[in-house]
Amino acid sequence: AVLSGCGGAAKPEAKDIKIGGNLELTGGIATFGQSTANGIKLAIKEINAAGGVLGKQLTFIVADNKSEPSESTNAITKLITQDKVVTVLGAVASSNTLAASQVAHDNKVPFISTTSTNPKVTVDGGKVRDYAFRACFIDPFQGTVMANFASKSLKAKTAAVYIDNSSDYSKGLAQFFEESFIKNGGKIVAKEAFLQKDQDFKATLTKLKASNPEVIFIPGYYEEVGKIVKQARELGITQPLLGGDGWDSPKLVEIAGAASLENGYFSNHYSPEDKDPRVVKFVESYKKEYGQVPDAMAALGYDAALMAADAIKRANSTEPGKIKDALAQTKDLQVVTGLINLDSNHNPIKSAVVIEMKEGKQVFKEKINP
Ligand code: PHE
Repeated sequence: AVLSGCGGAAKPEAKDIKIGGNLELTGGIATFGQSTANGIKLAIKEINAAGGVLGKQLTFIVADNKSEPSESTNAITKLITQDKVVTVLGAVASSNTLAASQVAHDNKVPFISTTSTNPKVTVDGGKVRDYAFRACFIDPFQGTVMANFASKSLKAKTAAVYIDNSSDYSKGLAQFFEESFIKNGGKIVAKEAFLQKDQDFKATLTKLKASNPEVIFIPGYYEEVGKIVKQARELGITQPLLGGDGWDSPKLVEIAGAASLENGYFSNHYSPEDKDPRVVKFVESYKKEYGQVPDAMAALGYDAALMAADAIKRANSTEPGKIKDALAQTKDLQVVTGLINLDSNHNPIKSAVVIEMKEGKQVFKEKINP
């Protein structure tokens, strides 16, 4: 619309719709943020090629949160106040998303975390956060999946847990794993903790080894997990090592080495080996675009962008408040990682996969429905 002299209440309409990305492009979990950005860019390219949304093109503006909570607050503030995005995608890590959440709330702009699985991301003290959404399942489910895998598939009766005390994700996932494992009749025989950026894990690993657990659950991110797995094997810990989605990075094998990762299993959001036609098509287009097999972060970045586009279309508006209302109504949306139906806490109910590490490769083991 053109601004006219008389009765000119109408603002000039922006030609594009700005979508922000609050992502870990550098720092401790940089492969996560980069994959996510790639997945989002691919979705936006495809959406724009098909005519955009509400007749407008989507523009993606990404801000680097450097894998740090305080930087995540800065990144989302910049996206909302300077770039005027109408929805933010990200962050990846739960601690970084939690740090950004209040900014979204104060400015009344919704965000969709692609991969943050901690329950607190969308629910704060029993109350749902109006502007917070996510594209992934949550840790109570993921913890149960791995506890059941330990009890049922590996027939373990005892487990030890090794927690990253600097991450909300790790502490939460450990707790949910323990609860389910105990419910299955198992016993937690030892618990130790580490911190992000630690290098030497041998002292605590020696203690874990002494408790002689049948499996060890390590809900961390690939940088530390890679070193832990390597040092555990050097200490003669031969037991199965288990983890969650934080293991999903090509760097894991680089750091740990393929041999150390044998007898390693983790839960994840999707497997590129899945024969579902949507997965096959996505893997093909992603490989064509980037020459790489997409990991789960890429798939969930792609899916979060589809969620945003779907909500803007249904809202029939680019007003953040209306997009937020439409997001809360997301129903039966087909995406790469499944079918998105948001529950009243803004969480999708969807399946998980268990991956086995074999000769340095991720092998699809089983798919588990909620
Ligand atoms: N789920 C992790 C978190 O909440 C982030 C993550 C997702 C890491 C997917 C790896 C893969 O912090």
